[in-house]
Amino acid sequence: MKVKSVQKTLTLLVSFMVLSLVLIGCGTKIDPTNSSPPTTSVPEPAASSQTAVDPAVARGMSIFNTQCKVCHGTNGSGGNGPRLIGKTPSASYIKSNMPRNKPGTLSSDQVSDLIAYITSLK
Ligand code: HEC
Repeated sequence: MKVKSVQKTLTLLVSFMVLSLVLIGCGTKIDPTNSSPPTTSVPEPAASSQTAVDPAVARGMSIFNTQCKVCHGTNGSGGNGPRLIGKTPSASYIKSNMPRNKPGTLSSDQVSDLIAYITSLK
């Protein structure tokens, strides 16, 4: 009886090890590390949200992360500057007031990309 249960435990252990090796192996194969350029949007099923695949949102996110995140927080969650999630800022406001420390430095294209990004925040 005891031998049998030890055998059972061993079989289980070995199966788990094989299973985890298979899982780890698959995981590294599927992962497309560094194969995409920095401006591409986060890979996400197109059906789940129209904004995730919008290149303007991806560009806006990269501008936001370099120029706005310091005050408005990751994903606009707020910091020294107000939380931007759920807001629909006007282009003229951003253009003449933001970034707070260097207003007037953004191009109209950058501002419209930023608005695309900010309005995509949830
Ligand atoms: C140095 C800090 C700082 C930076 C950098 C900054 N902001 Fe702001 N932002 C603020 C503050 C503070 C306010 C609040 C209003 C004010 O004081 O002018 C604000 C207000 C805003 C608002 C209005 C929010 C509301 O409640 O209506 C928007 C939109 C905005 N910022 C967008 C941006 C964008 C886009 C960038 C990057 C290009 C940016 N900000 C960079 C500090 C900053």
